[in-house]
Amino acid sequence: MDVQICPSILTADFAALGEQVQRVSNADWLHLDIMDNHFVPNLTIGLPVVRSVLRRSPLPVDAHLMIEDPDRWAPAYAEAGCASVTFHAEAVKAPIRLARELRRLGSRAGLALNPATPVDSVADLLPELDMLVVMTVEPGFGGQPFLPTCLGKIRRARELIRARGQQLWLQVDGGISASTIEQCAEAGADVFVAGSAVYSAADAAAEVDRLRALAQACLPV
Ligand code: DX5
Ligand code: ZN
Repeated sequence: MDVQICPSILTADFAALGEQVQRVSNADWLHLDIMDNHFVPNLTIGLPVVRSVLRRSPLPVDAHLMIEDPDRWAPAYAEAGCASVTFHAEAVKAPIRLARELRRLGSRAGLALNPATPVDSVADLLPELDMLVVMTVEPGFGGQPFLPTCLGKIRRARELIRARGQQLWLQVDGGISASTIEQCAEAGADVFVAGSAVYSAADAAAEVDRLRALAQACLPV
């Protein structure tokens, strides 16, 4: 497993997004949090801004859709050029149909689980996915404290992936920083979203490298 770091722009300066995304050009993915103020109590960006960021991003875009009706809206993010599109198990109506459509459109398909959603409830969907996302905060805001209660779920997710012999990526999202990333890597995560930890650092790129090194040191060889 290779560690991948995905800075989230949620706590970056939205008035200077073009410049902000250049600060993390040494990362692996750019994580864009799309929120509709219905599925989560916050409103961020949608397709027009995502299209502009796609034109400027030095990284492939990992679109995290915290929206109602992803069945209807998610394909447009793949068509716009997002290399990975994640939808929520709590919002989707036909996850297999949507995952297959995203893949047909050339995007990777991710499924996100809120802290209260058991990972065993989606075990049978794993073969249809490229990435499983364990939320380690309640979705909707950056800068929230990491929820240690999710560590057992990360371990269970890794067990299920290993049992199926799949190359599925296991992403954690929320409260990831130098003080939480190692326990997530030890539990089995290999893809890490970090928003406030990266964008609050004076040198965002150095923080990306630091997080990658901390996680890499914990992954099984
Ligand atoms: C929360 C978002 C996360 C968030 C991460 O709903 O999905 O991606 O931006 O931000 P931090 O790393 O600050 O928790
Ligand atoms: Zn996110």
